[in-house]
Amino acid sequence: MIGIFDSGSGGLSVLREILKVLPREKYLFFADNAFCPYGEKTPQFIQDRGRAITDYLLSEGADIIVVACNTATAAAIAVLRNEYAVKFIGMEPAVKPAALSSETGVIGVLATAGTLKASKYLKTRGLYEDDVKISERVGKGFVELVERGILDGPEAEETVRQSLQPLLDDGADRIVLGCTHYPFLRDVIQRIAGPDVQVIDPAPAVARHLVHVMTEDGLIREDGGPSFPDVRIVASGDDTIAKRLYETIINNQQ
Ligand code: DGL
Repeated sequence: MIGIFDSGSGGLSVLREILKVLPREKYLFFADNAFCPYGEKTPQFIQDRGRAITDYLLSEGADIIVVACNTATAAAIAVLRNEYAVKFIGMEPAVKPAALSSETGVIGVLATAGTLKASKYLKTRGLYEDDVKISERVGKGFVELVERGILDGPEAEETVRQSLQPLLDDGADRIVLGCTHYPFLRDVIQRIAGPDVQVIDPAPAVARHLVHVMTEDGLIREDGGPSFPDVRIVASGDDTIAKRLYETIINNQQ
């Protein structure tokens, strides 16, 4: 069983990509929405939540855990890997593909405050900042929109524009989505950015990495599993929006 968690429903954007490549596995998705957002919380707080959620996922039978949250990956994955025998797959902001493909030489990164100041991100940034200009903004209010189930419309446009416009004004032709909530606002982001700007979501690469690790560890179901998605959604708070977003994902994939 694959355990997946996020501070809320954002990680479902990662589950969506995983289901495309591993449709026959068994999943338990945990949305920690009673404690969302993680973006402004201390690393210690996020590590404690990571431990509590890991204990829960293991008690339910998880064989591998996907930290479908950039903020939690940055703040807690090293600690969790140190303390637990189970394998953790984390998020990586897609700075590399953005930097290698940019034509203007400017890339934009949207992420939470926690991710942008974490050493993990700063290290990645350091590898490319001599080659391209990297412009960053916190997607202010993005997580809250998604947690309310608002993925488009005037309020979403206004909120997205405020954080995105400065990156576009800097000349960015690649926008990296460094928070797993943001892909749910992708249509709005792309509309505002225009057709010449490529929006990059690292989730497909994370899904491919998961397949690789599970294949190596012999965790892929040999019997093929059921032909319908075997997914359980659990939340620490109200699960209405998480379940609704999950339904949207499934309906769009059919
Ligand atoms: N979805 C998460 C991330 O990838 C966390 C957002 C938040 O809770 O602030 O960063």
